[in-house]
Amino acid sequence: MKKMLPVEELARDERFRRVNIFDAAADPRTVRNRDESKGRTGPQKLTPDRADAPDGARQLMHGIFMGEVQALEGAGRTCWDFETGPGREQAPFDLKLDMARQCWDETRHVEISVKLGEWMGTEVGEFAEATFLYEAACNPDPVLRLTGVNRALEGLAIDIFNTMRDFGKVSGDPMLEFCEDWMLADEVTHVKMGSDWLRRLTDKDPERRANALEFQRIVDKLFSLGGFRGEEEDSPIRLARRFRELAGFKDEEIDEIAELSAESRNDAIALQQDAAAKVEAKVAAAASAES
Ligand SMILES: [Fe+2]
Ligand SMILES: [Fe+2]
Repeated sequence: MKKMLPVEELARDERFRRVNIFDAAADPRTVRNRDESKGRTGPQKLTPDRADAPDGARQLMHGIFMGEVQALEGAGRTCWDFETGPGREQAPFDLKLDMARQCWDETRHVEISVKLGEWMGTEVGEFAEATFLYEAACNPDPVLRLTGVNRALEGLAIDIFNTMRDFGKVSGDPMLEFCEDWMLADEVTHVKMGSDWLRRLTDKDPERRANALEFQRIVDKLFSLGGFRGEEEDSPIRLARRFRELAGFKDEEIDEIAELSAESRNDAIALQQDAAAKVEAKVAAAASAES
């Protein structure tokens, strides 16, 4: 079996379509809609009184399902891609054992997500797949996989599961509430694995630790997705401080994620404005060519 499988070669059938999340985040139409106060302008938090809440919840749940599939693929690859050993290009046996346990958990999460999706009225493949989790799991250094995937992206999963669990509670859907709660408990363990292995593998290697934390920061910022995660009451995804503490995050690390999220919101607005300006320039060029 091939080592370091590129993202293009992941096994998917005809139900799955891919989307680039940066294209979606930089949608030029967003700028005009915002200027003309079209679409949703109030708090973005998912609440049962919103007319679009069922669709929003189904879309988010499908995104979670795709994340579970890729988390399984990523943890499985870390067992396979590296020789077993203590070296920098190797992975210790106990780390592989943790990744194998994670595969077991993620497999269960995939099954839960498929059934929960059906319960919510969604088919597999109804929404597009973004492959960023698997891409972060392709890093050639296993420690960077653990900071990019386990600490950054599964940390994000903690925030999302916690938010969805609360949505299940307030909307009176015990199936959604309990499924999210069970998966949340496992994700705290996976994030803690990332925190523990980061500490163990970089104990005597400050440069490797700094690289790993820098990769985590980059992934955290990229996938704050235009600042949708925050600490405000109406944030679409709320930063789950208590669960992150349980998963080995220090207070100052959680503060930093909140700051990165705010920066990410400004970056997304700049990307959208840039994309809108390019569209306008194209339209103007086409109009002058016609006249
Ligand atoms: Fe999971
Ligand atoms: Fe996980």
